[in-house]
Amino acid sequence: MFALRRLATAPLAGSRAAHSLPELPYAYEALEPVISRDIMCLHHSKHHQTYVTNLNAAEEKLKAALSKGDISTAISLEPALRFNGGGHLNHSIFWQNLSPESTQPSDALKKAIEDSFGGVQQLKDQLSASSIGVQGSGWGWLGYCSKSGKLKIATCANQDPLQATTGLVPLLGIDVWEHAYYLQYKNVRADYVKAIFEIVNWKDVSQRFEKAKSC
Ligand SMILES: [Fe+2]
Repeated sequence: MFALRRLATAPLAGSRAAHSLPELPYAYEALEPVISRDIMCLHHSKHHQTYVTNLNAAEEKLKAALSKGDISTAISLEPALRFNGGGHLNHSIFWQNLSPESTQPSDALKKAIEDSFGGVQQLKDQLSASSIGVQGSGWGWLGYCSKSGKLKIATCANQDPLQATTGLVPLLGIDVWEHAYYLQYKNVRADYVKAIFEIVNWKDVSQRFEKAKSC
């Protein structure tokens, strides 16, 4: 019910701009050879765009239902809001989490990783294993637990958004839907997950960590 509660108390769609597909901060071919241009183009311009389009459509239906006091229809829209809203949120983070430039975790993030996992390599090993082990479609995540002040690894099914599902603030997500890797890695998800650490934007992850700690 997260999306319904949040959206029901937010300004209705007619009073604000609809969601839109964010531009990538790099060219489609910039992440090669880890992720091919074809995958990036389809993933961003088709898959992410579809989540945005369907989220906007679901919000319009929600707006119409709420304006008529049709609670039954409003409730029935929750799966579409969760799936497409989650897809939009997750991919918007994912694009920022990647970079063609070599980056390193900030000193503060590196210390937090050492405190929570023992070291950066141990984090990579644990996040890889969890991501590879997702059954069907979903995401592997590094998140920040504001209650404990620790970093944690979690997985989410389908497009369930990390924070609404687990309470963890998302720092680094690995999309393990087949659309993210199949054209290049076929059925070998493990090779894709192993390679993606070569293009992690640790600068972005570090900035998300600092913001999460301050909330
Ligand atoms: Fe995806």
